[in-house]
This record gives sequence, structure tokens and C-alpha cells, in this order.
Amino acid sequence: MCGIVGYCGFRKAEEVIISSLKRLEYRGYDSWGLAVRDGNELKIFRSVGNIGSADFTGHFSGNMGIGHTRWATHGKPSEKNAHPHTDCTGKLAVVHNGIISNFQTLKEELSDRGHVFRSDTDTEVIAHLIEENYSGDLKTAVIRAIKRLNGSYAIVAIHSEGESLVACRYKSPLILGVGDEELIIASDVPALLDYTNRVVYLDDGDVIELKKDGYSIWNGKETTRSVESIPWSIEDAEKGGYEHFMLKEIHEAPGVIENNLAEYVPRDIELDVSFAEEVDAITVVACGTSYHAGLVGRYVFENLAQIPVRVEYASEFVYGSFLQRNSLVMGITQSGETADTLEAMKRAKKMGSKVLAITNVLGSSATRVADYVIYSRAGPEISVAATKSFIAQLVVLYLIAIELSSIPLSEKRKLIDELKMLPGTVQSIFQYESEIASLSEWISEYENMMYVGRGYGYPVALEGALKMKEISYIHAEGYPAGELKHGPFALLGERTPVIAILIPDDSYSIMLSNIKEMKARDSPVIALADENDTEVEKYVDRVIRIPSTRSILAPITYSIVLQLLAYYTAKARGCEIDRPRNLAKSVTVE
Ligand code: G6P
Repeated sequence: MCGIVGYCGFRKAEEVIISSLKRLEYRGYDSWGLAVRDGNELKIFRSVGNIGSADFTGHFSGNMGIGHTRWATHGKPSEKNAHPHTDCTGKLAVVHNGIISNFQTLKEELSDRGHVFRSDTDTEVIAHLIEENYSGDLKTAVIRAIKRLNGSYAIVAIHSEGESLVACRYKSPLILGVGDEELIIASDVPALLDYTNRVVYLDDGDVIELKKDGYSIWNGKETTRSVESIPWSIEDAEKGGYEHFMLKEIHEAPGVIENNLAEYVPRDIELDVSFAEEVDAITVVACGTSYHAGLVGRYVFENLAQIPVRVEYASEFVYGSFLQRNSLVMGITQSGETADTLEAMKRAKKMGSKVLAITNVLGSSATRVADYVIYSRAGPEISVAATKSFIAQLVVLYLIAIELSSIPLSEKRKLIDELKMLPGTVQSIFQYESEIASLSEWISEYENMMYVGRGYGYPVALEGALKMKEISYIHAEGYPAGELKHGPFALLGERTPVIAILIPDDSYSIMLSNIKEMKARDSPVIALADENDTEVEKYVDRVIRIPSTRSILAPITYSIVLQLLAYYTAKARGCEIDRPRNLAKSVTVE
């Protein structure tokens, strides 16, 4: 989704803005732009497409400016719709993330008062509203203007006559980076890391004024917020020799598992889940890959802890109206900023449930909505397709389930020991990487695929199919293997390969029967099977071997293989991989 940057300090603003916008490219965008205060004038540049090697040497000189990458919502990607947007005077410019839901009414009202609009965006109304309220003090004008806005926003405004930037947020992320004699405001941490790792997370309703010599926050009154340190370095957010972030991040899985275990199981589990001990039911609300983590969690919680679990798409949860008494609602969200998940969490709170956030981002909005927070320590994930963050979510879910389980202590210890062996097990997956890559070459020729599994294999199939479609653009469906004959069988045939998730547990033999049925419909079948499985070869066309682990932990190992399969298939098809078309890393609109 859109990315915002604002800079105020001693460096050339355009250089900071361009380099920070590039750090936000992973969020997905279709156009971009910047405005720099140059003397008493605002200089603006906007363009469609990628930032590429934009060079403004000699064009801008100024130490204060704003920039934006746009992911179109209102109006198609075009120069006129790219941000920054200006008022009638051209002296004021704004960048905005989010959606102004009452923009149409405001636009009509402002037009009636003589304002001339030059774009199709909702954002432009903000510039005109600030203009109407401006009489020399940008902060006051912004405070007055935003009273008229409905919807969600993170805004940064600049005026050619002023010495400050003014920013504000409501339901859309905005973070201040506090450097030495410089301030940078942005929608996400990677944009700040080149300059500082000291940050202030802004709250809904905050209006912040940034000046060369400091900042002040207003939220109904002057307010202070704590400065926190980001535990990531810029190297963590760079490719480190890998061709793509996605490949690097898949390879980081062993370290991610270790980090979470080091944090939560230094000796025994030291994860405080006392808030969940008395719950009668769990409802997971999440989107995309995080939803699939929740589905794995469902099997894990029900099998280990005998707690009934319902897993809901966050965007649909808001239409239901019932939560079992004494429910714990878990919002799983790597970014902590997914609008639908945040809304679902808020709704659950209103309905009287306790809400736990499982998120990768310290200080994100989800951490503020929730009653309890557990961080899934994956480090920065740049590629749009979630990989290591999914693995981190699974590890956290296992740990919570083990903690809540009433299985004997010795059994808990065995599970923990197996979790501790996982980094090594996952590392050994990478020895099969060239085989996976060559199989991917073959898959890349197809346009339709089916992924099937049972039990723990079912959410793995869903997530595998999601990864494949997001980055290779092959149409891939995930299904419970037993459901295939109730419709999708009609799609099987020579041109529809099936990926079968074969976990060596009580789903195994019935999976083999299902595979026979698929083979009888001429679909090529590729099985993901345990390395000790001696049967499977007789039934399928190709086998990808998975290092052995306990079946309950298999979603981790099998998913990593499917991440690699999607990666190499997308690569064989020449896809962009880290920034797939039409997608965004952090979806901050409902
Ligand atoms: C976007 C991303 C997905 C992610 C989903 C939910 O669609 O592209 O990778 O799974 O949002 O994101 P969250 O941050 O809530 O986990």
C-alpha cells in the first residue's frame, strides 16, 4: 500500500525522500512523487511507474520535503492522481495514506465554494480543506481540517511559507524517526533505518509538528510519546547477496525459529499466557497468510489443548454477531496494520472478548488495540509474499498451545525439544533446493494447479496455493483432499498438476486413495512426502522429500518447501517476485 515520507533536517530533502521511498517500495505502488520547499517555493515532481534511478541533481535544493508512493484506490494510476496534491494556491502540498470515505460530499462542498480540483483522488480534498483553514499556521489549519474527515488517514503537509511539516494519523500507520538534528516521518520502519533507529509510534488522533530543532505532538492537548529503539538494522532490511528478498527471507526461517525459541523458551517456556488459561474458546481473525497460520493453529490448539477454535477472515468477522462467552480473540497480523484485522479486533473488544495480537511489528496499531501482545520475532520482511513471518507465527502458536495444553510435562518437553531441533531440520531442506528449482521449471509451463491436503496438510495446501498464485500468477487452488470430488474434479486433467501434501500421520492412507483418484483423472501428481516414506513413489509422478519431523510440526517444513516451489516457479516465469502486480505488503484499507 501507499508509502509516506517527510523529512526535516540538514540533508538534501530530495535525497532522503527518494532513498526512503525506495525502502518502502516493497509495500507496492504504481506511481510516486515528492514536494520540496526550496526557498519560499514548493517544487513538486510526480510520475507513474517505478522510482528507478530518479536523479534530481540541481533541480531541488531544500532541507524539508514530503514524498509518497501511491497504490491506486480513487482514480487510476496517472501523474495527475499521484501525490503530493496541492491546494488552489500551489503553496501547500499533502501526501496521504488511507481512504477519506466522505470525500465526495466534501469535494462538492468545496467546489461550490470555488475550489478547483485537478485529480480524481480523495486526497485532494485534504489539501483544499487545509487551505481554507490556513492563516499562517499550518498546524492549526491541519487540526481544523481533519475534523471534517471520515475514514482513515496518515497525512503529511508542507507549506511554502512555513518552517515545519505537519503530520497526523488516524487508523493508518505513521512513525517518527528521531535522528541527530533531523526528523523523518514515514509509514514504516525501513524508511527510517538509514538515518536513525530511534522512533516514536504515533497514536490515532495525534498531530505532530516537525521543525529543524524538534517536534511537538498534539492530541486534544500537548502530548508526549516515548522514544523507542528499533531492534533491526538496515542490513536486516537488505538483500545480503540473495537475488530477491523472498529467497533471503525463506532462508532466514531457521534463524527466525531460533529467535522465537531463544525469546520464549530460554529454558522452559517463559511465555506468559495466563490470560488465556480460563478461556473456553478461541476465535482467530486474520487475513491472507496470517489466516492460514490461524488455520494451522486451529488443529494445533484443538489437538494439543482441547480448546475449540474458529478461524475467521477478518473482513467477514465484522458481519457476524456472536462470540462464545469467555472467548479469546487472536488477531494474527505480521504487519500489525491490516485494516480488516484491526477492525475485527476492535469489534471483538466491543463484544466483550479479550483480544490477543500476534504480530511482528513492535508498536504497530494491533498492539494498541489488543489487551495482550505476543511478538512473532521474524525481523523485517520486505518481500510482499509473507514467508518467514508465517513461520514465526506458527512457532508462536505452537508455544501458546503447548503452554495451554494439559498433556503431561514429559510430552510437552519432547515437543519443545523437537521445536528446538527444527532450525537444523529446516536447514537440511535447503539441500533439496536445486531439485525444487528444476521441478519448478516444469511447473512454470502450466496455468492451473491444485494443492490438496488433509488435517495439518490442508492449511499447508491453502498457503502453498496462495504463495504460487501471488508471485507466479499461476491459478492455484488449495483444497481439502476429500472435497475435490465434490466439484473441483471437473477441473482435473493433464493440464492441471496436483501438489499433494502427504504428512505421515492418520491422514496418510486416505491421502494415497485420493491421489489414485486424481491420477485416474490424468492429473500429474507431485507429492511432498516425508524423507522416510517408501510407498509414495508408486503412486505419483514426482516426489519432493521433506526432512522428518513430528506431524504436528510438519506445517513448518512443508510450507517452506512450498515457498521455495513458488519462488522458483515465479523466477522461471520471469515474474517480479518481491513486488507482485496489484498486491501490497501491508493492506491498510478495508
Ligand atoms: C497482504 C500481504 C499478505 C499478508 C496479508 C495479511 O495481503 O500481501 O502477505 O498475508 O496482507 O497481512 P498481515 O500483516 O495482517 O499479516
